[in-house]
Amino acid sequence: MSPPIVDVHTHVYPPAYMQMLRARRTVPYVHDPNNEDPRLIILSSDDDSSIPLDQRGRPVDSSYWDITVKLAFMRQHGINCSVISLANPWLDFIEPNEAQMWAERINDDLEATCAEANKAADPENALSLAQKETLFAMGALPLSSPTPNIVVAEIKRLKTLPHLRGVIMGTSGLGKGLDDARLDPIWEALQETDTLMFLHPHYGLPDEAFGGPGVTSRYGHVLPLALGFPLETTIAVTRMLLSGVFDRFPGLKVLLAHSGGTLPFLAGRIESCIHHERKFVSGGGDVPGPQRSIWDVLKTNIYLDAVVYGKPGLEAAIAASGSDRLLFGTDHPFFPPLDTKVSDWPSVTTNYKAINATFETIPDTVADVLGGNATRILNLK
Ligand code: URA
Ligand code: ZN
Repeated sequence: MSPPIVDVHTHVYPPAYMQMLRARRTVPYVHDPNNEDPRLIILSSDDDSSIPLDQRGRPVDSSYWDITVKLAFMRQHGINCSVISLANPWLDFIEPNEAQMWAERINDDLEATCAEANKAADPENALSLAQKETLFAMGALPLSSPTPNIVVAEIKRLKTLPHLRGVIMGTSGLGKGLDDARLDPIWEALQETDTLMFLHPHYGLPDEAFGGPGVTSRYGHVLPLALGFPLETTIAVTRMLLSGVFDRFPGLKVLLAHSGGTLPFLAGRIESCIHHERKFVSGGGDVPGPQRSIWDVLKTNIYLDAVVYGKPGLEAAIAASGSDRLLFGTDHPFFPPLDTKVSDWPSVTTNYKAINATFETIPDTVADVLGGNATRILNLK
C-alpha cells in the first residue's frame, strides 16, 4: 500500500464566515450584489477605490466554502488526507465582544465537517465506496477578544474536539506582533497542550515597500503574494526569536507557511546580526539577545511546509530544519488554474515535481514529506 499523501496547508471559508464577509463593506469583505459573481477583497492593496468593485480583489467560487469541492480536488490530485484551516484574515478583525463566539462557531463547524467526511470515508460505512479522503483541522483563535484568557480557554477547548490538530494564526497576534509579551499565556497554553501553531501571513508589507499603491496593483497580486507574504512570515518569526519566545517556551511547535518565507535562507545572516549586536539597547534597556541559536530553534521548534514551488527553496528548508520536518501542502483553494479546462492544478503539480526532484534518489523521504511526517507530527492515524 502506498503511504498516504497529506495536505497540511489547505483552507476553507465556512459558509457562516462567507455570509459574514458578504455583509461587510470594509476589508475584509465580499462584493456580490447579484449573488452570482462574488469578489473577495481581503488584502489592503485590493481595496483600491480606483478599481471598480466588480473587478477588485479576486473571484471566489464554491471551492472556497463547499467541502465536497475540496474532497473532489483531493481525489483528483491523489491527496488522501487534508488538514483544513480557516483562510486569512481569520478572526483578526472581529469585534472583541464577538471573537469568542466566532471562534467557537468556526471551530465547531470544522470539527463537524471533519467528522462527517471521515464517517463517509469509514470502510464500515456503506458510503465509503464513494469517498475515501479524510479530513482533520486546525482551529482559529479569538485573538481580538478582550483578554488572552479567552484565547487560552479556546486552545484548551480545541483539545476536546477529536479532529482538531493545531491552530492557525496570523502575524499580528494580539495586534502588536508576535514579540508582544502579552502573548506569553497563549504560548504557554500552546506548549502545555502540545498544540502546533501554523503561522501564516496575511498583511504583507506596506505598499511603499513595492513603490507605492500604483506600482503594487500594476502587477496584480504578484508583489504582495510572492514577496510580501514570505517576508511577513520571516519578520514575525524573527521577532519571536529576538524577544526570547523560544527561550521562554522551548517546547513550542510552529509550522511556518511557505517553507518559512525566507527564514531558512536568511537564518545565517540573522544569527550573525544577533551575535554582532550581543545586547539590544533600544527601548532604554540592556536586554540580552536570544539565548538559543536560530539553528537549534529551526531543528527543534520549527516545521516547514513544502509550498515553495521549487528545488532551491526546498533545499534551503531541509538544510535548515531537516527533511523530517518538511510537510506537503497545496494552499488550496488559492492559486487555481487560469485555464478552467485544465483539471490538474499547476500550483499543485509544481510542488509535487519539486519534491520529487529534490529527493529523487531517496523515495522514502519523498513519502515522508508527502505524508509520513504529517501523519507522525499531527497524529493523524
Ligand atoms: N494564499 C493564502 O493562503 N491566502 C491568500 O490570500 C493568498 C494565497
Ligand atoms: Zn495559505
